[in-house]
Amino acid sequence: MKKNQIIFILLLSIQFVVKYTNAQDKTIQMKSIVLKTSLDQNGNFSYQLNYKGKPILKNSKVGFELSKPNVLLNRFEIIKIDTNSFDQKWAPVWGEQDSIQNNYKEVKYHFKDKGGSSIELALIFRVFEDGIGLRYEFPPQKGLEYFIIQNELTSFNLGKDHTAFWIPGDFDTNEYLYNTTKLSQIDAIKATAKEKDIAVTTLVNDHVVQSPLMLKSDDGIYINIHEAALLNYPAMHLDVNKKTYQLNTLLVPDAVGNKAYLHTGDVTPWRTVIVSDKATDLIASKTILNLNEPSSLVQTDWIKPQKFMGVWWEMHINKADWKMSTGKHGARTENVKKYIDFASQHEFDGVLVEGWNKGWEDWFGNWKEDVFDFVTPYNDYNIKELSDYAKSKGIKLIMHHETSGAVTNYERWMDSAYRFMIANDINTVKTGYVGKIIPRGEHHDGQWMVNHYTRVAKKTSDYKIMVAAHEPVHPTGLHRTYPNWLANEAARGAEFNNAPTLGISPEHNTILPFTRLMGGPMDYTPGLFHFDLNQFDSTRKQKVLSTLAKQLALYLIMYSPLQMAADLPENYEAHLDAFQFIKDVPVNWSETKVIEAEPGEYITIARRKKNSQDWFLGSITDEKSRTLQLKLDFLNKGEKYRVKIYRDGMTASFDRNQTDYIIEEKIMKEGDEINIPIAKGGGVAISFFHQNN
Ligand code: NOJ
Ligand code: CA
Repeated sequence: MKKNQIIFILLLSIQFVVKYTNAQDKTIQMKSIVLKTSLDQNGNFSYQLNYKGKPILKNSKVGFELSKPNVLLNRFEIIKIDTNSFDQKWAPVWGEQDSIQNNYKEVKYHFKDKGGSSIELALIFRVFEDGIGLRYEFPPQKGLEYFIIQNELTSFNLGKDHTAFWIPGDFDTNEYLYNTTKLSQIDAIKATAKEKDIAVTTLVNDHVVQSPLMLKSDDGIYINIHEAALLNYPAMHLDVNKKTYQLNTLLVPDAVGNKAYLHTGDVTPWRTVIVSDKATDLIASKTILNLNEPSSLVQTDWIKPQKFMGVWWEMHINKADWKMSTGKHGARTENVKKYIDFASQHEFDGVLVEGWNKGWEDWFGNWKEDVFDFVTPYNDYNIKELSDYAKSKGIKLIMHHETSGAVTNYERWMDSAYRFMIANDINTVKTGYVGKIIPRGEHHDGQWMVNHYTRVAKKTSDYKIMVAAHEPVHPTGLHRTYPNWLANEAARGAEFNNAPTLGISPEHNTILPFTRLMGGPMDYTPGLFHFDLNQFDSTRKQKVLSTLAKQLALYLIMYSPLQMAADLPENYEAHLDAFQFIKDVPVNWSETKVIEAEPGEYITIARRKKNSQDWFLGSITDEKSRTLQLKLDFLNKGEKYRVKIYRDGMTASFDRNQTDYIIEEKIMKEGDEINIPIAKGGGVAISFFHQNN
């Protein structure tokens, strides 16, 4: 960084304090975003959000109900207001682009309770060019030290019956299929009537939904409501008033019904509202990431984006089993070697092995505490031999820690389990939380579990281990702070192609980038090449509702620095020409351009490979066919590219002839146009290899 750049940054981040003697209304503007706050005579504080002159949030509330002490904090006196502004670029350890601009104006209200307790708290707003974040801070003070949050009163008063892309509020799972209805038509109970395939559900009621919640107004404004930096606090769900269209914060309770145990000095997560009239800009927003703290790690050269295969899907489609007792054990030494051979031949980084450790005979469903010890392989799995073999082939094994929800047990084993990984030359772990949580009564999304996921991120980093969690709370951009926390599932991922009842609808992947992925990378595990799932079990009726070309496009659409080629080697052998795209597509990027997008309909994204001039593009559609019409204006001017297009064939559709695809190669340059038909539930994937003339 140049000296004058450093001085510029210092100047911008210097805090200036403004003291206000009497309460007053305030307006903070960043381009099209205008935040207004006001305090009335009675001490009721409210905030409003406008975008390009249009109201996005009408008067919305802030505050808390505490227990111990039993206090309602909703009327305030302003003691002081601090303002600050910040404009700085930072470089993520890995990601969708080389650098990210973090530019905001901040206002911090120092409040004193007017209701009699004199408790002090601060409310901080950050206003960005595409939205706002707000959080609370409880400063150290006389008369208050430890306290319990019973309710958070933050509301988002939309005031209009927007179209909502939502999943039901549930304290234990986010693995639902998305619903698209008006806010007034939300019925979370009805929507779940057909949901039979999620292991553990704790539905709230008919009108609570989860964040990230995606909304679209009738006049074409896209609004996303979520949270950032969820630490030491339960997840936020949204209680929808179907008549006034106000959303109220609903925090996930603990085993005894409390929400959060805090200590003065603590802060809450940020509540985020991102707004744009361009769906493409909304997906590209970095506001949630910017609201998270910078990386806590000094040395990060051991953290590597990676592509992997796994002894995984063969268990889901009943070719093999996690259990040894069924006589179909997948994690056998010689079977894993076949995966290592294939992965090595095709230049992958890792091979995940599930079902390697003893305990799968009663892995979940019994609320049993001591299921796995995470260090004892089944007798037919020779971990030492396999890690040596993997090393000789340039592959790393990826560890699997299924906790089956018995998190107290996992906590006791974590250190031994990570030491065992290091001893076997393994530095990536996929964790999993299928099952009811132990401590019994806790939920996947409560404060206790939020602290657990964070402990795992920190502890794995102590051992220089990368982690991807399945069945955790919704992500909130914490991969900025913990860059070894590469990805999470935390939504309906590819495994649900195998679910008997609902599966994955063609539109699901066009909604995920607007919802789940707003919080961070998803371990979606794309790349299925065999579409009838009766391959090894004739009783299976399920189909993967996608074309093969769409499976390729998902490597661009379902962003993650950890990407799996989920299918079996033999299914890839059948289509090695198309498999070439999975081999070529990178997992780390210098630049990303969201070209077109509409939630529930289509998305097209182009990304430039890290430190390279090669581009890759993915485009997907819902159950309707469409044409990708595009001018290649993202390519370097005047330079040539060898372009390889993987597109749907004329008979392809998500429910038949899914493997009808066409691969075309041509030389193209910036400004050229493409016109590519996409089948129903289909997609297209394109590689642009830069030619050095
Ligand atoms: C659910 C996970 O999402 C899936 O990937 C895994 O195979 C099973 N649990 C077993 O751990
Ligand atoms: Ca899962």
